[in-house]
Amino acid sequence: MTTTSASLSAYIHVPFCAVRCGYCDFNTYTATELGGGGSQREYPDAAMAEMDLCRDDDRAAGYVYDRVDTVFFGGGTPTLLPAEDLVRMLAHLDALVPLAPDAEVTTEANPDSVTAASLRRLAEGGITRVSFGMQSAVPSVLRTLDRTHDPERVPQAVAWAKDAGLQVSLDLIYGTPGETLEDVGTSVRAALACDVDHVSAYSLIIEGNTAMARHLRRGEIEAPDPDDMADKYELVDDLLSGAGLTWYEVSNWARDEASRCRHNLAYWRGRDWWGIGPGAHRHRDGLRSWNVKHPSRYATMVGAGTLPVQESEQLSDADRALERIMLGLRIAEGLPLEVIPGQARDQVQVHVDRGHLVPAAAEEGRLVLTRSGRLLADAVIRDLTP
Ligand SMILES: C[S@@+](CC[C@H](N)C(=O)[O-])C[C@H]1O[C@@H](n2cnc3c(N)ncnc32)[C@H](O)[C@@H]1O
Ligand code: SF4
Repeated sequence: MTTTSASLSAYIHVPFCAVRCGYCDFNTYTATELGGGGSQREYPDAAMAEMDLCRDDDRAAGYVYDRVDTVFFGGGTPTLLPAEDLVRMLAHLDALVPLAPDAEVTTEANPDSVTAASLRRLAEGGITRVSFGMQSAVPSVLRTLDRTHDPERVPQAVAWAKDAGLQVSLDLIYGTPGETLEDVGTSVRAALACDVDHVSAYSLIIEGNTAMARHLRRGEIEAPDPDDMADKYELVDDLLSGAGLTWYEVSNWARDEASRCRHNLAYWRGRDWWGIGPGAHRHRDGLRSWNVKHPSRYATMVGAGTLPVQESEQLSDADRALERIMLGLRIAEGLPLEVIPGQARDQVQVHVDRGHLVPAAAEEGRLVLTRSGRLLADAVIRDLTP
């Protein structure tokens, strides 16, 4: 039987960075870390070969997609590759499954990995949106994060992107050791001064196997304090909402519906997507798989005509229901009450009473987090899942 599903999303991972930031544990490699394996020059061909394998695999399983609605080049630093490479990968995808006329095509970029000319080329080649890793506007905070760009570079890069006709989003990180509340305000105001329609703000997570975690273990920096993090989140939310950007997911704010990141919404709504590249995750109708992580092993497997899958799992109905709660509760449209299993329903009123869920929405059968609920999203989700 052939299942024709309306739409597909595609995530294309680019696992290369010029420098590794001390807090980052994404699957990305500097030239030194790669040690000559899995070269950047050959990477686009490997990624395109994987797209062919995904399309064949879908067909063999009876899945045919009408169109690709959203594409996201993530990293790593996709813009470390020449613009032409991203454009080539996008054109290859389009030839396999046509891009919708209004497809959203985002690339992540470091502010110092683009030029006016490279952004123009990306826009001409079909990229519609760029998400810059701004992180902070405060030089000392950028230094603690090992960021290589000058704060002045961000407004410059945003202006180039807008001139090229791209939509622009800025990523911020709050809670860096040594960062004050005033620093957070400075960064959010600097992001708003760029007049962008979308901002993501993430609380710093100090992942185990990073240089920053080693600094923490040696007592050279202090661990983030939960109350301080909450104050910073509230300040971010106050400043962004005061400037007309409203939250639509716990860490994401947009000026209006058209400015929301449709690609991320597709993940949060459990749609089907391809995950192209080392370590990338794919989802098809409850079948989840993830690729081998090292670019060199990835290139070898794809070169041999094999899907570079490390492992896969078929989600049960119960897993999918759980995932729907975990993802759905984090977005502003919320969740219908009937999705919550019977045994966890009494927790709904408990969280309404504690001020974590919007009472009026709950009365109408929808669960929507309040701001204090957003701060405790993980705990609320735990209580509402079986
Ligand atoms: C994979 S990075 C790619 C973007 C690009 N390479 C850059 O750094 O500008 C995507 C975003 O994840 C966020 N991020 C990465 N590691 C993080 C961490 N440990 N804690 C919080 N946010 C993190 C940063 O805001 C970053 O912009
Ligand atoms: S935060 Fe971005 S630039 Fe820094 S190492 Fe991670 S992916 Fe690379």
